[in-house]
Amino acid sequence: MQNRDKFTTSLGVLTATLGSAVGLGNIWKFPYFTGQYGGAAFIVIYLICVVLAGIPVMVSEFVIGRRANSNPVGAFKKLAPGSAWYLIGYSGIAASFLIMLFYTSVAGWVYSYIFRALGGTFINTSPETTVGVFGKLITSYYEPIVWQIIVLIVVSSIIIAGVQKGIERMTKTLMPILFVLLLLCDIRALTLPGAQKGIEFLFKPDFVKLNREVIIIALGLAFFKLSVGMGTMVTYGSYFDNRQNLPATAIKVALSDILVSMMAGLAIFPAVFAFGFEPDAGPGLLFITIPMVFSKMPLGNILLTIFFLLTAIAATTAMMSLLEVPVAYLVEEKGFSRPTATIMSAVTIALLGSTASLSADAGSLLGTVKIFGKTFFDLYDYISSNILMPVGGLFTVLFIVWILGKKSLALELSNNGQLNNKGVVNLFYTVVKYITPLLIIIIFLDSIGILKF
Ligand code: PFF
Repeated sequence: MQNRDKFTTSLGVLTATLGSAVGLGNIWKFPYFTGQYGGAAFIVIYLICVVLAGIPVMVSEFVIGRRANSNPVGAFKKLAPGSAWYLIGYSGIAASFLIMLFYTSVAGWVYSYIFRALGGTFINTSPETTVGVFGKLITSYYEPIVWQIIVLIVVSSIIIAGVQKGIERMTKTLMPILFVLLLLCDIRALTLPGAQKGIEFLFKPDFVKLNREVIIIALGLAFFKLSVGMGTMVTYGSYFDNRQNLPATAIKVALSDILVSMMAGLAIFPAVFAFGFEPDAGPGLLFITIPMVFSKMPLGNILLTIFFLLTAIAATTAMMSLLEVPVAYLVEEKGFSRPTATIMSAVTIALLGSTASLSADAGSLLGTVKIFGKTFFDLYDYISSNILMPVGGLFTVLFIVWILGKKSLALELSNNGQLNNKGVVNLFYTVVKYITPLLIIIIFLDSIGILKF
């Protein structure tokens, strides 16, 4: 335990953490929700959730991870010995596993689309072809599973390489590339004639569309987007050294993440409107509308390849943080070597994850099998995003206030007194003591239908 691998630079801390936050969530969830739920009005609600819940939980997780210098289960055991708080750690491991089951499946589709675009599948495509290509892929009995396994091999290789040589090095290289590629797509989309309508769709505030459901969605998105409530940031925080300014890191990550989401929206919607398509939802937008839209542009096929490449990068760096959670646990608590822990986790994800790949569409092999009224694919998403993440986030902030206490918190946030940030500590403490838990409790009870207001 003395020689734990750590991030070596502040830049590495930032790119790794941002790499976790930026993912599939930015490329289709954020733009779609924003358009659907009132443009700038939704962004305002989302920002409030980020500020009052997302950032506070992220900082709390950093505090717990760095203070304990340990994986989520070990961290709670160390900071609250003999108590049951370590169960939050297990809930985090369960959540990261469940997310991996469907996330690797969607990432597999993205990987396959890089090669499809490169091979010219979508040149001069028609709506029928594009719908057909996607339908054929996700209803195939083997192709999505093969891609899912490829994804897992890529992510596992990086994780086996280690925190510094794998995660830090890869995110330092990949995050700037992702940014440049996204900028290229933005420039192309924004210079199309008729781009204006897409910008309006994304940013015109429409407060009429705001309702209770939108607030629940905004909070869920804030958690998923910032990768909080499930031990990822406890794990990454445990790789930070004592010079890192925790609140500043969280704020930088949250702001950059929002920037990437906005840039993704600006790459997608102007083009969608310029060519007269409908801003469709979810997977349809990414895998059906986008290939059609890009195929209509000059140099569209190259741009389409670039677009899927950047989406694959975003998904891959996010999955690295997901896989690191069980791996850190297995290495530190169960004594496995890093390669063994990684391979064990990846094989389990591949086996269970095939049920997600085979239930993504009604026409898939397991597409009609329902548990609690949901397909495997939807069930994994629902349990992790709607139950484990908010509950994990809630108990994390309760832990900071009631178990860790303000004194230890102040020491951790000020890097043992090196930073003069009493004001920040007081503000943070007030928010995590009163506002964040209340917000999460109300929204959580409402979302699972216990409280109706
Ligand atoms: N933040 C990622 C996204 O927006 O796609 C998803 C994610 C990654 C969630 C890692 C949770 C996590 F621990």
